[in-house]
Amino acid sequence: MCGIFGYVGKRQAAPLLIDGLKALEYRGYDSAGLYIVGAGCAKAVGQVKNLETKLGDGFSGNTGLAHTRWATHGVPSEVNSHPHSDCEQKIWLAHNGIIENYNELKEELISKGHKFVSATDTEVVAHLIEENIKSDSSFSEALLKTLKAIRGTYGLVISSVHEPEKIFVARKGSPIVLGIGEGENFVASDPSAIVPHTKRVIYLNDGEWAILTAGSYQLFDLEGTEISREPQTIEWSVEQTQKGGYDHFMMKEIVEGDNVIKNSLRGRLDEVSLEVKLPELDSVANQLKDIKRIIITSCGTALYSGMVGEYMIEELAKVPVEIEYASEFRYRSPIIEPGTMIMSITQSGETADTLAAIREAKRQGALVVSIVNTVGSTIARESDAVMFNQIGPEIGVASTKAFMSQVTLFALFTLYLGKIRGTINEEMYKKVVQEIIALPDKIKSILSRQEEIKLIADKYSRFEDFLFMGRKYTFPIAFEGALKLKEISYVHAEGYGAGEMKHGPIAMIDENFPTVALALSDAVYEKMVSNIEEIKARSGKVLAIATEGNTTLSNLADDVIYVPETIEMLEALLAVVPLQIFAYYIGVGRGYNVDKPRNLAKSVTVE
Ligand code: M6R
Repeated sequence: MCGIFGYVGKRQAAPLLIDGLKALEYRGYDSAGLYIVGAGCAKAVGQVKNLETKLGDGFSGNTGLAHTRWATHGVPSEVNSHPHSDCEQKIWLAHNGIIENYNELKEELISKGHKFVSATDTEVVAHLIEENIKSDSSFSEALLKTLKAIRGTYGLVISSVHEPEKIFVARKGSPIVLGIGEGENFVASDPSAIVPHTKRVIYLNDGEWAILTAGSYQLFDLEGTEISREPQTIEWSVEQTQKGGYDHFMMKEIVEGDNVIKNSLRGRLDEVSLEVKLPELDSVANQLKDIKRIIITSCGTALYSGMVGEYMIEELAKVPVEIEYASEFRYRSPIIEPGTMIMSITQSGETADTLAAIREAKRQGALVVSIVNTVGSTIARESDAVMFNQIGPEIGVASTKAFMSQVTLFALFTLYLGKIRGTINEEMYKKVVQEIIALPDKIKSILSRQEEIKLIADKYSRFEDFLFMGRKYTFPIAFEGALKLKEISYVHAEGYGAGEMKHGPIAMIDENFPTVALALSDAVYEKMVSNIEEIKARSGKVLAIATEGNTTLSNLADDVIYVPETIEMLEALLAVVPLQIFAYYIGVGRGYNVDKPRNLAKSVTVE
């Protein structure tokens, strides 16, 4: 979604703002703009480089703010892109989020003589500050009054000629992080833009606002009371936010797969004693012992990892699990009885629907445990306990490495839960742990077959429709494989449980509608073979994902990609890798920028 970057210090702001916006490009946007104190405002539709070209050398100044916009109110255009200003162009601001009562505020301000130029909800904030400043003694007071009057969500960065040496920032619902440097300070909607400059950061909480100067920062609540908070050190390296020699972040992140597993296990799995430790859950361990039901709720790929988790938990920890789209959970009337635990899974930690779902669950008294990649994110802070992925930022819009880590953490969580509830025997426990330890090498071996998978992808890239089918632990992988393909290659793909084939989808099958069949050597293998036979009998083309050593499928399917053997519970982690690579090469082969698929954003912070 939209991105914010701001700077106050002694360096020239323009190149820093442009670099900051470039670091945020991955979030998805349609226009960009900036404001520099003393130099003015510039905006451009399309890529940040259009804005850069427009700036030339003329934008000199040491304080400024910048924004990449992903349109919600008003078409993508220069006039609608941020920063927005008041009538006299003395206040400039960039905003992430949605001001829900902007219409009523706008009408009131128009009646008082304010002139609006854009169709955005954001512009109302600048005019409201302008209005409030007429009666309030300081800019801070006017801002505070404004924050109390607006409803909705905001991450705001504001500059004003009233106090040009300061940047004002505020947060409600949309992430804002401050970067604390030496004689200079930064603000961004995402720490990845700040990491190249400083690793000392402060995450604003909802209902907090701050004032930054070159040499200071002050935090306040909405009563105007100053808050004391020390910066924390962020662990991400600059390299982790860069492509590391690959053409796309997506491939870099797929190839990180084996390390992703190792990093997710770090500090949690003792390879000698074969014990799983999740100290982050210690504070809720007593509650976990007695939970009666788990509801897993998330969005997109994160939800599919939860579907794998559902099967694991029910099988070994024997707790009933339900899966819920967070976007539905928030609006229906979920019944959360005592003893219900909510699990949310989220890479960004900021997904609006997931956040709303856990807030509803908390409101009803549920324990909330989350799997989150972004430390300091809202969902991380609002959960009762968090398992962090420990895998660094995921930049590609198509989630790959986060999925690998999420499923790995579900496996650990299942073992942990099974142990404290006494539902898993020692032999099974150790067996699963040993198989988890063996995963990175197995993933590496799949990654070494990239070229082979590319050739297969080339062969299939002419098709416009795909069916992905799986059963049991590969059922969610059918959804995930289809999602990966459609989001980066714009090819129609559907994920289905193979058992549902005869209830409808088989009608679609012909020689132009290939099927990707997840047919690993597990308890449902024979059933999958029958489904493949049914497709072949209808002239359908089949690409099978099979277990190494399988000698049957090469005679039945048109193409086969083999993955190493593992226990059924972990097979999703191996089956998904070739599908990520397959989707990547189809998307790239069609000439698309797979890191920034059209219409998508990395972090979906609005509904
Ligand atoms: O940041 P989150 O994990 O909460 O994001 C959830 C989904 O938006 C995300 O997984 C999305 O489906 C990806 N584009 C899938 O590749």
